[in-house]
Amino acid sequence: MSNIVWHNHTVHVEKRKEKLGQKPAVLWFTGLSGSGKSTVANALENRLFSRGNFTYLLDGDNVRHGLNSDLGFDDKSRIENIRRVGEVSKLFADSGLLVLTAFISPFQEDRELVRNILKEGEFIEIFVNTPLEICESRDPKGLYKKARSGEISDFTGISSPYEAPENPEIELQNLSIEESVQKIENYLINKGYII
Ligand code: ADX
Repeated sequence: MSNIVWHNHTVHVEKRKEKLGQKPAVLWFTGLSGSGKSTVANALENRLFSRGNFTYLLDGDNVRHGLNSDLGFDDKSRIENIRRVGEVSKLFADSGLLVLTAFISPFQEDRELVRNILKEGEFIEIFVNTPLEICESRDPKGLYKKARSGEISDFTGISSPYEAPENPEIELQNLSIEESVQKIENYLINKGYII
């Protein structure tokens, strides 16, 4: 960026950390539509909020109504969706929050891009590994049915790819909502994000 100079602020992330009593991070949920990302993220936020932590949840379905309402589901739009959410998450993490994001985020490269704009240890990739058959049988919004009939194109898992994380910090497989929340809370305690 030419002619734009970065300002260093007096109230910076280290001061916020001390005040809020938590280490900021982005808990990046990824998985197919219907895998349970939003459900687990919501339950986790509730747990963290109850124990006195400061959080913010960014959810694909909601963000696509506002900030990203101009984006569709072709590859280019999904890449831009994740880029913007990554930048917003970075801002929220810088404000000291534990940020939870629930987006399909199907491409490995885009998730890595977000990891790379954050500080070391700030990106926690959580793979909600629910098989396509189960997501499709749940079909909470009736979208798989529409994707199969061709009414919706570029549908993840059916007519658009999903690249599973190779090395996620946390993987959720065959777990109840409560077990998933517990697994993530334990991780955050063990790694010193929360006390
Ligand atoms: S992402 O691929 O760009 O990360 P995002 O998480 O924001 O996707 O949005 C996914 C949600 O949009 C799904 O849960 C579903 O409700 C809805 N949706 C509508 N059309 C599609 C589509 N073609 N593929 C996937 N999800 C879709």
